[in-house]
Amino acid sequence: HAASETAGQPFEFDEIALEPRAGDRLPIGYTRQVVIRWGDPLFADAPAFDVARLSPATARRQFGINNDYTAFLPLPLGSGSSDHGLLVVNHEYPNPQLMFPGLDVAGLAENITRDQVDICIAACGVSVVEVQRDAAGQWGVVQGGAYNRRITADTPIRISGPAAGHPRLRTAADPAGLWALGTHDNCNGGRTPWGTVLTCEEGSADFFAGHVDRHPDRALMERSHYEDSAHGRYGWARFHEHFDFDRHPNEPNRFEWVVEIDPFDPEAPPVKRTALGRFAHEGAHCALAADGRVVVYLGDDYEFEYCYRFTSQRPVDMQNRAANRDLLDDGVLAVARFDGDGTVHWLPLIWGQGPLTPENGFANQGDVLIETRRAADLLGATPMDSPEGFEPNPVTGHVYIALTGNGDRTEPNPANPRAANNHGHILEMIPPNGANGQPDHGADSFAWDVFILCGDPKNPQDQAQFHADTSRQGWFVEPDNIGFDPAGRLWVCSDGPGIRGHDGLWVMDTTGPKRGLPRLFYNPPIQSECCSPAFTPDGQTLFLSIQHPSERAANLAEVLTGWPDFAPGQPPRPAVIAIVRG
Ligand code: FEO
Ligand code: CA
Ligand code: CA
Ligand code: CA
Repeated sequence: HAASETAGQPFEFDEIALEPRAGDRLPIGYTRQVVIRWGDPLFADAPAFDVARLSPATARRQFGINNDYTAFLPLPLGSGSSDHGLLVVNHEYPNPQLMFPGLDVAGLAENITRDQVDICIAACGVSVVEVQRDAAGQWGVVQGGAYNRRITADTPIRISGPAAGHPRLRTAADPAGLWALGTHDNCNGGRTPWGTVLTCEEGSADFFAGHVDRHPDRALMERSHYEDSAHGRYGWARFHEHFDFDRHPNEPNRFEWVVEIDPFDPEAPPVKRTALGRFAHEGAHCALAADGRVVVYLGDDYEFEYCYRFTSQRPVDMQNRAANRDLLDDGVLAVARFDGDGTVHWLPLIWGQGPLTPENGFANQGDVLIETRRAADLLGATPMDSPEGFEPNPVTGHVYIALTGNGDRTEPNPANPRAANNHGHILEMIPPNGANGQPDHGADSFAWDVFILCGDPKNPQDQAQFHADTSRQGWFVEPDNIGFDPAGRLWVCSDGPGIRGHDGLWVMDTTGPKRGLPRLFYNPPIQSECCSPAFTPDGQTLFLSIQHPSERAANLAEVLTGWPDFAPGQPPRPAVIAIVRG
């Protein structure tokens, strides 16, 4: 088809087969372009990638590793362009055994060198990169683009909101508790209506070393899933003492926040927005209340953790971008209680209300936010099966939550109806309409129902619930990131691979006769996960983040693929791809 014939039409395709392969696969009639790979130069002075010439200095000038969340923001800001924009991309964590020849996953933290650690620190965090589609339809990076930027695991990040400056956030290096060093474990995220990007710190325990039983707040450390570790998973604490919580016990409290980045202002420091709570933040997708306040949906990606919603105090000002600069510092964080009558109630986490008082150890709102999980426990929130993608459908206003699973569940509840939940499920939330006739994402309660129960539809033991016409390739397990195309179809990436044996990307309608009928669209390379399906405004380009190819190899000598280049002597490289027709 010519682009003009297909503009505005959703992707149509013949379903493919799912299998682990060295390469990737997509339906006939579609092309996959590699937009940017780990190590590609972002700046005019940055060298091309070569695994034999990695250095901390060059890693700061190159695209990071293990790309995860990917946002497309049209350029110029607000133009709605579908062929020119900024990609804002998370780099979740390093795989040193697949970055450095000779390093093995066994003994990694003990054997990694200081230079290798510093390359990892530079390769994590976030990239902002200008991309453009040329006359031939090929997406490419604008090397040296004015907005290109690296935020790393040691970039100074401002701390704002009710927990800023809190005594529990103060450290020797930052006695005021107002600036943290870096962001890491950046998983999914979201775009705000005013054109900034939210990047989510999803559990930081892997990056730290120390002894939990010696920590002054042992209960909080255990609730944050910290374990005793001599050097941390990646050995960073051997060379950078702020990753040692024996020496700096408050340092972990400065992570697991949502960070706001203004990609259109390369000089503006990123900001940790503490009003959005502290937990294993998966994503932060935005919607509007009927009165124009911004709503942010927040999942806590851990077994038995909760679904949250932040609602700003003030409405968004779409006429004056600067007026929204600190909108996310003031508002109400609430947690979901799913009732068996099909209602979900949003329970506000406000200091002084209900059990959130000094008698229960909360001296102020900062304490409520630093210990969001414990506050939510006391309110009676519904423990969920690992909330991942949590995002409103832009067409219907219904909100979908992917729950990857929870093999440890023994007690079902209405919203997590299977014990054990080995395959995950997807819930649907339906906000009531507000006075403007639009779904009111700020309402105190919504309706909810089960959209899909994952598993093998042919295996009665799985108790799977898909559309009756679901094909052999169409069912999936362990749903993780979700996204929507402009037609309102739901795209789901798995992160398992569980009983399917391999991860993939499926798409389905959420309304009409094919509601909940998934079809397989993309098969990523072996031992990788595809993340964060994101469309251009015209729906004609799908950006997809391909993370950790051949991740289970113990070292570079044993990798199962050289995707995407299969270049001799070079490792597989995580990459953001663009999928287009033709
Ligand atoms: Fe990084 Fe929740 O997956
Ligand atoms: Ca994820
Ligand atoms: Ca995941
Ligand atoms: Ca993952």
